[in-house]
Amino acid sequence: MTALTSATAAPEVLGRCRTLVRPALREAVGRMHPWVGEMAAYSFGWCEVGGGPTLAPGGKGLRQALAVLGAEAAGAPGPAGVPAAVAVELVHTFSLLHDDIMDGDAARRRRPTVWKAYGTGPAVLAGDALFALAVETLAATPTGPGALRLLSVALGDLVRGQADDLLFATRPWTGPRRVRPGEYRTMAEHKTGALLGCAAALGALLGGAPPAVVSAFDRAGRHLGIAFQVVDDVLGIWGDPAVTGKPVHGDLREGKKTFPVLAALDSTGPVAGRLAAVLEGAGEPEEAAALIDETGGRAAALAETRRHVAAVESAIADVPIVAGAADDLRSLLDFLVRRDL
Ligand code: IPE
Ligand code: MG
Ligand code: MG
Repeated sequence: MTALTSATAAPEVLGRCRTLVRPALREAVGRMHPWVGEMAAYSFGWCEVGGGPTLAPGGKGLRQALAVLGAEAAGAPGPAGVPAAVAVELVHTFSLLHDDIMDGDAARRRRPTVWKAYGTGPAVLAGDALFALAVETLAATPTGPGALRLLSVALGDLVRGQADDLLFATRPWTGPRRVRPGEYRTMAEHKTGALLGCAAALGALLGGAPPAVVSAFDRAGRHLGIAFQVVDDVLGIWGDPAVTGKPVHGDLREGKKTFPVLAALDSTGPVAGRLAAVLEGAGEPEEAAALIDETGGRAAALAETRRHVAAVESAIADVPIVAGAADDLRSLLDFLVRRDL
């Protein structure tokens, strides 16, 4: 990944886009029912439970940045992408509220999840409200039907990805019903990549880009989603918990079907057999991590990441876009997939 260079550091790009989008996002959330709006504001990291001030950091705002950069890449000023940015941040937050319920997770970004803090019913409702607001935001743009079409496709795929992710948990580690790396790839593209691609594509659409650019950005975001998810998996096993904020070997302890494990189990031989036995409870996560490394699962995951990063770069390089925005997109890509690998 050394070929990547960037004029502007990714945190600066993210910060610039956040500042540009924040007023419109706040205005949209301000139109919600006050109680529902408080849950939305809480999940954006703008307030504590009850509406009081907070020191919560909030998310990176990756999707809103992709939307703004998508518009800029098309030659439009950043504000042209703001409705797209607002819509994708609302949809992302909606998906997280519902996902935390599906996963039964009690914490996100080191705070109680919305369902833990407000109750499951209210968290479902807040998710629904965020979704409705996203649709309303896009419907009000001049590209209305085209923008809504892009969002609907992404949402359909997100649901497909979530469904597969949930079903993977019920499948065995070995045998004909085991999860193959290819199935994981499709799940990650749907679960994470579809909305990332939609963010950049919507921004480009609102910025007046031709269809070839819109679909190139959609494709780039999908590859980015897979790369991002696989990097997350690698960090979940070998990352420094002080950096990731996640417990060491958490994914292995929970028995999650992550890419390095699936790639390791897809190899044949005695080490893969021992790994399956450890995953089924005959050993400790530390041993599983060592076996995954030994069978090439970690190397396969890193190769997978490199392939998708290259696919993102070539999707961006293949279409005529504004150079400055392309540099900013590359700096985000570098930031997201390098992390502390
Ligand atoms: C996240 O999926 C959210 C959606 C795409 C809906 P995960 O369940 O894998 O991610 P985290 O760990 O909760 O963020
Ligand atoms: Mg989750
Ligand atoms: Mg989930």
